[in-house]
Amino acid sequence: MRILFVGDVVGRPGRDAVEGLLGHLREEQEIDLCIANGENVADGVGITPRLAERLLAAGADAITLGNHTWRRIEIAGYLHDAPRVIRPANLSATAPGRGLAFVEARNGTTVAVLNLLGSLFLEPAQSMWELVDALVEEARRATPVVIVDVHAEATSEKIALARWLDGRVTAVLGTHTHVQTADARIQPGGTAALTDVGMTGPHDSVIGVEADLAISRMRTGMPVRFETASGGVRLEGALVTCDPVSGHATAIEPVRVPWPPL
Ligand SMILES: [Fe+2]
Repeated sequence: MRILFVGDVVGRPGRDAVEGLLGHLREEQEIDLCIANGENVADGVGITPRLAERLLAAGADAITLGNHTWRRIEIAGYLHDAPRVIRPANLSATAPGRGLAFVEARNGTTVAVLNLLGSLFLEPAQSMWELVDALVEEARRATPVVIVDVHAEATSEKIALARWLDGRVTAVLGTHTHVQTADARIQPGGTAALTDVGMTGPHDSVIGVEADLAISRMRTGMPVRFETASGGVRLEGALVTCDPVSGHATAIEPVRVPWPPL
């Protein structure tokens, strides 16, 4: 079966790319399940219930989040009963929502989706290492097909997690940096990995922000209101092929599709 993971969808350009491309991609690539990271879809930071519904309507079966989960606080109530929209499992256990979801793919296979937050710069309530094993066990009691979104800054944390979970999950896919890495691989135990799947949004930018504004803040150290850029829009992500019975991955390829089409 084939699972498409769509990297961090940034602002309106990212949403336009998803709405313009995903339906066609799903058909053309015979995608059984699509997961999108949506934590930057509301003007570059956070997500609202309305925008989550739009990503789901555009063809995402599940949405993962990250360090900006609570930036639009209206998402908090929505997460109580949105079983397909998950936030990192290692945010505070007293906060709304969950970090593990079970979603049915088009081929009838149940897929577990797990969202974790790395430690460097991101200040999770708890280290992902404290709870990952129990969550993977819980996932595997229901299905062998388990996809992990590790939302993290450090390449080392993401690679270490992929190694730790090798043979126990289908794929460990990194998000957050908005820069697609060139290390798509199948590990010895059958777990696919990619350190960062990239950004679905405007690449003529500084990781999605208008370059002039980001540079100005860095040069002067003064507060600058960020705006989402508009040029060089691409849908980026990863396409994982796996065996639905064993849960092992057989292929992973990075995805990069320009929007609008060239
Ligand atoms: Fe992030």
